[in-house]
Amino acid sequence: MKESIMLEQDIKKVLITEEEIRAKSKELGQILTEEYADKNPILIGVLKGSVPFLAELIKHIDTHIELEFMIVSSYHGGTESTGQVNIIKDVDSDVTGRDLIFIEDIIDTGRTLKDLRELFLKRNPASIKIVTLVDKPAGRVVEIEADYTGFVVPNEFLIGFGLDYDENYRNLPYIGVLKEEVYNN
Ligand code: PRP
Repeated sequence: MKESIMLEQDIKKVLITEEEIRAKSKELGQILTEEYADKNPILIGVLKGSVPFLAELIKHIDTHIELEFMIVSSYHGGTESTGQVNIIKDVDSDVTGRDLIFIEDIIDTGRTLKDLRELFLKRNPASIKIVTLVDKPAGRVVEIEADYTGFVVPNEFLIGFGLDYDENYRNLPYIGVLKEEVYNN
């Protein structure tokens, strides 16, 4: 059996604690509850990274919502964004005339959400908003901003609470900085 300290030993420091994420999700959930009361919005989770945040956020939304998921890829397993956004799985429902809220774990270069936003604008929704748990402004190469941001983060390689390195560390309950030796090996 693997040792329980296995993940923690790869972490240089904890940047955002589990408690801070929960409190921020509650705050954002309350804002969305008020803003979308009686609108029945569709929350679109961008897989896979958004899953822990989406799960925490929706617990705090006290009005009717629907859930959809997309699978797109851009990082391809490394620490640098490639700029290629491939749509692997689209939403199942018709979004015409609907209020859409994209849920992301991170906005880095901004390419993923810019492309998604442009794609969905062509589908004539009533509105599109973006909620991201973390925003890394230093990474931005295209112009896009979230409507609601949990935390603005420095330009470090982050993992945890959905954020991965080579598909690992998504299950950490906090967001941390990975030790350089983990990805330099
Ligand atoms: C990550 C993240 C966002 C995107 C943000 O997804 O979840 O979707 O990158 O980066 P960008 O602003 O530079 O486009 P990734 O493609 O790594 O897939 P994942 O959610 O499965 O980790």
